[in-house]
Amino acid sequence: MTLILPRGARLVAATHNPGKAKEIAALLDGRFDVVAAGALGLPEPDETETTFVGNAVLKARKAADASGLPALADDSGLSVRALDGAPGIFSARWAGPAKDFGLAMRKVEERLDEQHAQDRFAWFTCALAVAWPDGPVVAVEGRVEGALVFPGRGEKGFGYDPIFRPEGYDTTFGEMEPAAKDAISHRALAFEKLKAALFAD
Ligand code: IMP
Repeated sequence: MTLILPRGARLVAATHNPGKAKEIAALLDGRFDVVAAGALGLPEPDETETTFVGNAVLKARKAADASGLPALADDSGLSVRALDGAPGIFSARWAGPAKDFGLAMRKVEERLDEQHAQDRFAWFTCALAVAWPDGPVVAVEGRVEGALVFPGRGEKGFGYDPIFRPEGYDTTFGEMEPAAKDAISHRALAFEKLKAALFAD
């Protein structure tokens, strides 16, 4: 099924973060009239699914049904092979209520140490879903693979960026200029795929 969203269409970004809604509008090349779910007073659903795509679809579906408008949601995180994919969909939660990613990164290192794991392979995933109020949904996933490095390096990024070195690079995401990271990131890949699915021209 091809689902096209016309230029200028109103699109709900299923987030309560106004900054994220603006970023989403820009990543979609300014084609749509993006409004944050928070600004419409929509409730924030619990992320009860077990996969990135599952959670993105759940959030997009709830926002579309509650608003009567097409809605876009994302879900992303870091997965570590030696930890069976953890923290994965729990990436934000590992940072605790204070959103302390120093703590989250220490937790990753401690878990690897506990298991005497030498394997440093890890990947970031970004899932995006657009749901229409009358039922259909489009979901895509972007992924970037690399290796974990301890101690972490660089202060340019956010979240787990300091401990992630993408394959083929000597620098971590935390050391890269934002534009360089944006050219290869899981989020960029996911938006490329979504745009291919949504844009008619
Ligand atoms: P979400 O907002 O529920 O999708 O949570 C995503 C979490 O995954 C964030 O809080 C970050 O910790 C982590 N994450 C996702 N993408 C990145 C990235 O590009 N760099 C660093 N951390 C990321």
